[in-house]
Amino acid sequence: MKDNYQTKNLIGADPVDFKRRIDEFATLQDATMEGYQSAAGQRRMSVGFRWGADHDFGDFKVSGMAKERPIWLLSHFMDLLPVLSRRLDGLRVLDIGCWTGGTSLALAAMGAHVVAIEEVKKYVDYLTYIRDSFATKTLEPRHLSLYELTTAEFQDAFDIVLFAGLHYHLSDPVLGTRITFNTVKPGGMCLLETAVMRSDARMLEYAGHNEIGRPENAIGANWFIPSPVVAAEIMREVGYRDVRSVVQASRGRRDRMIAVGTKMEQVDLLRAGFSVPTIR
Ligand SMILES: C[S@@+](CC[C@H](N)C(=O)[O-])C[C@H]1O[C@@H](n2cnc3c(N)ncnc32)[C@H](O)[C@@H]1O
Repeated sequence: MKDNYQTKNLIGADPVDFKRRIDEFATLQDATMEGYQSAAGQRRMSVGFRWGADHDFGDFKVSGMAKERPIWLLSHFMDLLPVLSRRLDGLRVLDIGCWTGGTSLALAAMGAHVVAIEEVKKYVDYLTYIRDSFATKTLEPRHLSLYELTTAEFQDAFDIVLFAGLHYHLSDPVLGTRITFNTVKPGGMCLLETAVMRSDARMLEYAGHNEIGRPENAIGANWFIPSPVVAAEIMREVGYRDVRSVVQASRGRRDRMIAVGTKMEQVDLLRAGFSVPTIR
């Protein structure tokens, strides 16, 4: 898989042009292309391009904030919660919040047809360029927010939905999780990975705009950090069944949790007070 996306396998681009184009993406600073009035008060990694995972392109390498996260993330769903096969041929996978596409590229290399969505346009443009440069026919990067996945094409459409590193970025995690549920085919599953509070309580902690204490909001833009029990409960609340989870202790302020939930069938949810009462 490591070889799939190396310069020796370029099809749609010359290696020199490819490196130049990658360097251009990496220096992008543009708030207006994201629909923001200005960069003020916006997340730095939305205004400016920041690498997600490390990528070894063969002739050159890039180092990302998330380092080798795509590899260990997917392997946790093979080892800690053994629900993911090493080959995904014939399966449709939705990768939500794909950033620079580390997991999307890995899932495509594992044989899946991957729809990778991301709210930040510059990352979608980058991943589309990578897709075209390596003629990866089974990857569809789309510039969409999770909240926009309510159209017919996204209903009951995926065997596997990867909902990783995103729960705590959502202003409405219950609505967001319900939307993931609606995208899964009956019999399919959602793989959740999230930061969690280190607590056994039923709590959602408000993290807010400046959680990491830097006024310019260097990385953050987290909204609510769930406790492990709440993250699992929200999955059940929106319709997932057979929810299983594993919490991984970390040395940092937050632990991480992985969970899997199955969509047995389309079921309704509590409508009273719901933020989008018409949601499927
Ligand atoms: C912490 S990164 C996680 C990346 C990757 N999913 C992973 O687990 O390594 C969160 C990504 O989700 C994107 N994102 C945040 N809110 C989103 C939303 N509502 N819809 C789509 N993407 C979103 C961010 O722009 C960012 O690229």
